[in-house]
Amino acid sequence: MSSLDDFREITQRDVPLAPFTWFRVGGPAQYLIQPRHQDELIAVVRMCHEQGIPLRILGGGSNLLIREQGVTGVVIRLVNEAFSQIDVTGNTVRAQAGALLSQLISRTVKASLAGLETLVGIPGTLGGALHGNAGGRSGDISQFVSEVSLMTFKGETLKHSRDEMTFAYRSSSLDSSIILDAEFQLQPEDPDEITRRMRKLWIMKKATQPLSFQSAGCIFKNPRGLSAGALIEQAGLKGTRIGSAEISDRHGNFIVTDEHGTFDDIHRLIDLARGKVLQQFGVDLELEIEIW
Ligand code: EPU
Repeated sequence: MSSLDDFREITQRDVPLAPFTWFRVGGPAQYLIQPRHQDELIAVVRMCHEQGIPLRILGGGSNLLIREQGVTGVVIRLVNEAFSQIDVTGNTVRAQAGALLSQLISRTVKASLAGLETLVGIPGTLGGALHGNAGGRSGDISQFVSEVSLMTFKGETLKHSRDEMTFAYRSSSLDSSIILDAEFQLQPEDPDEITRRMRKLWIMKKATQPLSFQSAGCIFKNPRGLSAGALIEQAGLKGTRIGSAEISDRHGNFIVTDEHGTFDDIHRLIDLARGKVLQQFGVDLELEIEIW
């Protein structure tokens, strides 16, 4: 049976995770492991399963809030270039989970392939985007996926075709697996036309969201038929500040912080927004971000 010691070359102890998240808050990982290739990743996952060590995969950290006490067990980051390859063949694009969604979008637009440009401005990795079915008003990533390679937390690898996966608003059936890579079927189109559409979406986003501030995007999912941001605004909470964290005065569903941000300040604002919206409108907002 293998042990953590077998992976000492790629393991660091007590590594602060804050720099790997967009909120830049949170404590350390007991063990941070950065595998160099897929076989090593599989071996680490199997070892954690055998040893009963809790295991989490950290993507781009753009939808994540980490507690100050940090995380026990192993946190894996897929940052080696062996996990971020993107390959375009005809209308088919295959990309690995560690690739940045922004890189995937620019590669497909350059190849005159339309579809993924609707996801412009969404940060994070492809793995994270699939895990939470990232998207916006103009669609989500699930619309274009044809196949995903996965690994279970026991270390078994498998492939899922489109009809073996289910996606819903900001969630997917891939939640309980480690995503390795994915294939997309896209449509050829005039690149100027794709770029024009992408620019328009980007301008709209920049006008309505506090993109130049430290944040983790939208905090809550939109309740069916409603906008969480609008509800928070109607509850009079835009601009409310606790310590270093503030409910954005541009978009009510964003909390922005600065270099002094803490988990507690952000979490208290989340509780405040949730409590006020429940009290005033009877709507119980559900978190979109993950909390570790
Ligand atoms: N609105 C307000 N006040 C606010 C915010 C929004 O009145 O503070 C109103 C807007 O005027 C608009 C409606 O609410 O009439 C919807 O707002 P918006 O178009 O900004 O979209 P959203 O529903 O708030 C969703 C996604 C965003 C995504 C945008 C654009 C969720 C929770 N949010 O926001 O995703 O960027 O559409 O496609 O689904 C994210 O997931 O992290 C995220 C930012």
